[in-house]
Amino acid sequence: MSPQPDPIRGATIVGTGMYVPDRVVTNHDLEAMVETSDEWIVERTGIRERRFSAPDEVTSDLAVIAARRALEMANVPPEEVDQIVLATTTPDRYLPSCACTVQAKLGATRAAAYDMYAACTGFIYGLSIARGAIGTRIADTVLVIGVEQLSRIMDMTDRNTCVLFGDGAGAAVLRPCAPGDGILSVSIHSDGVLGDLLEVPAGGAAIPASHDSVHRRQHYIHMRGKELFRQAVRSMDDSLRKALEDANLTMNDLELVIPHQANLRIIDAMRVRIGIPAERVLVNIERYGNTSSASIPITLDEVVRAGRLKPGEGVGFVAFGGGITWGASVARWTMPAPIDVDTPAAEPATLGVPPS
Ligand code: ACO
Repeated sequence: MSPQPDPIRGATIVGTGMYVPDRVVTNHDLEAMVETSDEWIVERTGIRERRFSAPDEVTSDLAVIAARRALEMANVPPEEVDQIVLATTTPDRYLPSCACTVQAKLGATRAAAYDMYAACTGFIYGLSIARGAIGTRIADTVLVIGVEQLSRIMDMTDRNTCVLFGDGAGAAVLRPCAPGDGILSVSIHSDGVLGDLLEVPAGGAAIPASHDSVHRRQHYIHMRGKELFRQAVRSMDDSLRKALEDANLTMNDLELVIPHQANLRIIDAMRVRIGIPAERVLVNIERYGNTSSASIPITLDEVVRAGRLKPGEGVGFVAFGGGITWGASVARWTMPAPIDVDTPAAEPATLGVPPS
């Protein structure tokens, strides 16, 4: 007789953490570097300031602080982590993976650790992996990290991109829960045909680093902003609807929506298109800019530490990024508001979309 398959388990977030570097770079600071203005940046993007890492800080350092905070909140020692899924486009090095470096720094000795490249949608891809691994009993405890040091790949002479991005890290610990709770659905997508809308042309196997590639500034982010804008609004709308449908829920079941913080106008256009009230959409782009894969877990941690999610409430995550990739996830929150968290309380994200 063949053995019965184990039933699928639910997976839920049991701890969150975030970290941003101390150095604040304001729009006024950027005015001294490129031909831009605080007014232009605020009006077109909603960003007022962002964080840049110190020269001696590396991506894994940011990730480790966020991860420790998430593990502390979850009351899980690092040795109990089975998998570290690290979403980034700016690893310390290409070899070894940034996740392995984080594993060593954390002392997560039992964990399988690997990087995952899905740009700004990385955290949602990470939730998908964690849900699958926990659901099928491959892992009991999965640490999902979104972390970026975009300041290291930004061309500070290109005003089209250097005003947009910032550095930071966010993390979440996931563990099993009853089916029907926790992560209810994940809808992820890609379209590689549109890959060159956002790219770092050199530094990989296609164009290895050379004097010429450095001279041509090919190790920096190159972006076609207008096309991305259109794709972002449409695809975030589609994937959130799909994630809701898969979870058998409607928009009214979502207490909060945490979108990727790429541009306030993108978030607002998606919100209008999908018909979510402004008060349910969380925004902190004015303080951190676009931190790519870190933006959703950073915002989530602010929300959790501010006690704004209660057990039983619905929360949606939705993102869009280079690749291009996009996706959404819908969860039924299971964690009580944390008390006595001994890491510094982050400012809660602004609720709703402030008037421009
Ligand atoms: N300051 C002043 N002027 C600027 C700046 C700046 N920083 N940047 C561009 N401009 C100028 C342009 O040169 C252009 O001038 P021109 O009309 O003389 O040619 C004018 O402003 C308008 O430029 P547009 O590109 O049309 O401006 P737009 O309103 O589209 O805003 C922006 C640009 C903010 C980049 C927008 O297109 C956007 O947000 N796109 C999506 C970007 C994005 O989401 N990227 C990341 C997604 S993936 C990820 O998150 C990693």
